[in-house]
Amino acid sequence: PERWTWTRCCRRLLLLLPILSPISPSTPGELSHPPPRPPRPRPRRQEGTAAALCATPSSAPALRVSPSRGTSSSPRDSRVSVDIYDENGVGGGASGVSGGLLHPYSPKVKLLWRGAEFWKESMDLLRSAEQANGTSVSNTTSQDDNLIWRRGIVRPPTTEKAAAILLENVQKCLESCSLQLLDSDAAQRLIPGLCTPFDFAVYMPLALNINPKKYLQALFSACQNLADEASSLPSEQKEIKLYKQHVDNLHLLAGNYDSVIICLGAKACSLPELANKLPLRTCRGVIAEFQLPSTTVEEYDSQSASILSDAWLAFQGPRTVSIGSTWQWISENDSSTVSDEESLTAIEELLPKASGVYPRISKWDFVRARAGIRAMPPLTTNGSLPLLGCLDDLLGNKSNCTFWLVGGLGAR
Ligand SMILES: Cc1cc2nc3c(=O)[nH]c(=O)nc-3n(C[C@H](O)[C@H](O)[C@H](O)COP(=O)(O)OP(=O)(O)OC[C@H]3O[C@@H](n4cnc5c(N)ncnc54)[C@H](O)[C@@H]3O)c2cc1C
Ligand SMILES: *[C@@H]1O[C@H](CO)[C@@H](O)[C@H](O)[C@H]1NC(C)=O
Ligand SMILES: *[C@@H]1O[C@H](CO)[C@@H](O)[C@H](O)[C@H]1NC(C)=O
Ligand SMILES: *[C@@H]1O[C@H](CO)[C@@H](O)[C@H](O)[C@H]1NC(C)=O
Ligand SMILES: *[C@@H]1O[C@H](CO)[C@@H](O)[C@H](O)[C@H]1NC(C)=O
Ligand SMILES: *[C@@H]1O[C@H](CO)[C@@H](O)[C@H](O)[C@H]1NC(C)=O
Ligand SMILES: *[C@@H]1O[C@H](CO)[C@@H](O)[C@H](O)[C@H]1NC(C)=O
Repeated sequence: PERWTWTRCCRRLLLLLPILSPISPSTPGELSHPPPRPPRPRPRRQEGTAAALCATPSSAPALRVSPSRGTSSSPRDSRVSVDIYDENGVGGGASGVSGGLLHPYSPKVKLLWRGAEFWKESMDLLRSAEQANGTSVSNTTSQDDNLIWRRGIVRPPTTEKAAAILLENVQKCLESCSLQLLDSDAAQRLIPGLCTPFDFAVYMPLALNINPKKYLQALFSACQNLADEASSLPSEQKEIKLYKQHVDNLHLLAGNYDSVIICLGAKACSLPELANKLPLRTCRGVIAEFQLPSTTVEEYDSQSASILSDAWLAFQGPRTVSIGSTWQWISENDSSTVSDEESLTAIEELLPKASGVYPRISKWDFVRARAGIRAMPPLTTNGSLPLLGCLDDLLGNKSNCTFWLVGGLGAR
């Protein structure tokens, strides 16, 4: 468990970094042709290094290295080099196409496992990303430039059972992401046209709808900035590099790195070393984007919240909304593009659910669809927990490189 200091890394960071590979100060070459390993001081094991990669806000250096331990006689050396391999670039997987709805609750507004920590870390990372991109939360001059599209999510129940559970769960909420019970009138003042079949809705004023791809790109910039700032002394050098390359297998990485962190989402199982070894089920999801036609005068108010129901409606600007998501179990198709046929099926599934709580959606036009693939972990009594852990036992540590897995993030 002492190795788990880094699990405090919030999920959003992990979304950003498909493979984090802290290495000692040698430069990696082509993945398929690892260069001969130059002689280099073998640094201590890297517990803590990955945790330190969280883009911590302002004062704390983001790239911290745990102090030397044990018998190391070398002078203090805090050099860290991180290589990220993602064949599709930052936000190229599910993280980039996701709905961008951010809150620490289940659809029944039950606090998620370690939701309080997750929420705090997420907000810290979001602030770091905003600072790196020079956009502040309040800067709404241009919708496209903001990482946060909209604040507030409303959850109206649509079945009696859900209504009862919501009423129970709403009593236990986080102070930092509070839940409020709204009667129909209050809910409709917040979202004109909202349907509340059970005459109430749960409101999460601090929940967010973010622009996921832009957020991840900004977070990556934040990591780079922090590495640059931390590199004032040669012995403190930090670097973080992104390689748009496919990783064929883990074997190729082992010789070049002290640690490898595998964050391949649903594709983790496609590594030959991990095939059939992870308890993950894949599930493709399609999101449909709608716009108000230019002839419609009345817009979706900038103060109105997004909606979470049997489908969710993540409103972006006053005339754009993403509606999601479908659940195509077993599918291993990770393509972000969606065929006309698949779009049609998705719309037929999503629109009735959306109209159930927001009938005015019939005035909006379908524009396009996008898709991604989830890696669903097993359900436990504590919910669907992410898979986090050291793989050395599973892989048999033939090298001195430690392998870690961060995956199974599911629908979150
Ligand atoms: C349609 C949809 C909507 C969602 N909406 C939400 C939402 O609103 N809110 C929420 O919290 N969660 C949402 N989720 C869930 C969330 O997107 C996922 O839990 C999360 O993105 C998983 O992140 P990840 O980093 O594990 O995987 P990914 O984001 O998929 O990252 C894996 C990366 O690895 C790369 N890769 C894979 N194999 C290789 C290889 N061999 N070599 C090199 N690179 C490789 C891929 O290019 C990809 O960029 C949604 C998911 C889907 C599918
Ligand atoms: C913020 O992000 C946008 C889009 O990715 C980019 O064009 C812009 O230059 C960024 N701004 C800063 C200050 O990094
Ligand atoms: C808001 O954004 C504009 C343009 O992107 C920028 O010039 C301005 O400095 C920003 N203001 C704040 C307060 O961040
Ligand atoms: C994945 O889905 C896309 C879009 O629907 C489709 O064009 C493509 O053929 C599918 N790929 C596989 C391998 O099924
Ligand atoms: C659920 O969480 C509790 C408290 O954190 C823990 O004691 C228990 O072992 C967990 N159960 C499972 C199945 O993970
Ligand atoms: C692992 O490290 C030890 C001590 O530094 C070294 O003797 C050994 O050769 C290394 N093994 C491999 C497979 O690199
Ligand atoms: C494998 O890991 C164990 C425990 O960390 C360690 O004692 C052993 O030396 C490692 N073997 C190799 C070849 O690195």
